[in-house]
Amino acid sequence: MRTVIIAGNWKMNTTPADAGELAREIARRTRIDGVVRILCPPFVCLDVVRAALASPEVASPAGSGVWVGAQNVHHALAGAYTGEIAAPMLVGLADWVIVGHSERRRDAGETDAQIAAKLANAWNAGIRPILCVGEVLADREAGQAEAVVQGQVRGALAGASIPSAATTSSGGPDGAAGLPWLTIAYEPVWAIGTGRNARGSDAAAMAAAIRRVLDDLGIESSTIPILYGGSVTSANIDEFLAEPAIDGALVGGASLKVDEMAGIVARAGLTAQARAAVRHGASDAPRP
Ligand code: 13P
Repeated sequence: MRTVIIAGNWKMNTTPADAGELAREIARRTRIDGVVRILCPPFVCLDVVRAALASPEVASPAGSGVWVGAQNVHHALAGAYTGEIAAPMLVGLADWVIVGHSERRRDAGETDAQIAAKLANAWNAGIRPILCVGEVLADREAGQAEAVVQGQVRGALAGASIPSAATTSSGGPDGAAGLPWLTIAYEPVWAIGTGRNARGSDAAAMAAAIRRVLDDLGIESSTIPILYGGSVTSANIDEFLAEPAIDGALVGGASLKVDEMAGIVARAGLTAQARAAVRHGASDAPRP
């Protein structure tokens, strides 16, 4: 069974002065079994967020259960790249990393080759990537959405050496055993920050299209969580979680609001419970 994941991408928001308190509050309000929670603050807040999540008030007795992720990693391992951050620098600070976000493809001109190198560097550093893919509105209007997204998946993953499921990285809230080494977030660009989310059925159709490419590449697609991202809120998350092909969400704006995160993770918890119950053959599972 695939993991249910709710990841918050804080983008260029929060400072070292306020990020720790926000992370603590989110951790406190989202304690729910069965959901992998990940917070991705800006680089300069990774340390303070990690420390906040380890503090006794949220961490006792069994840890906060919240993972820390970075929002980007460089395609080179070291060198003359002013202002950039390489994968080895993130070891001990982040267990996850967002790769290929559309804002970076757009603003930093990230290419498929660079994104493939970022994935490899993350894996070599023991960091789990969340690969973002998604079409722009013109692609969708031209009927090219699936082709564009499938091309992005192929460009990032053809020839990739994904660590085996049994490989574990150090650190993290409860140990990393069983967590996926690859997660894909389908984020249609026209839905990001616009308040105009995709339909659940469209996201599910795209997840199926992504899994066809994964299988084509020899990657066992049934083990790869696929998240939806783009104007996700506590009010619309159910539409995505109702789709068996969708395993959670990569949340932007709403991930900065404690009440929203509490609502989103609560809904995801019901989904995780329901999916586990189906797996165990129970008939009285709560519906998501
Ligand atoms: P919003 O949820 O703000 O639309 O952002 C989505 C996103 O880009 C997450 O990575």
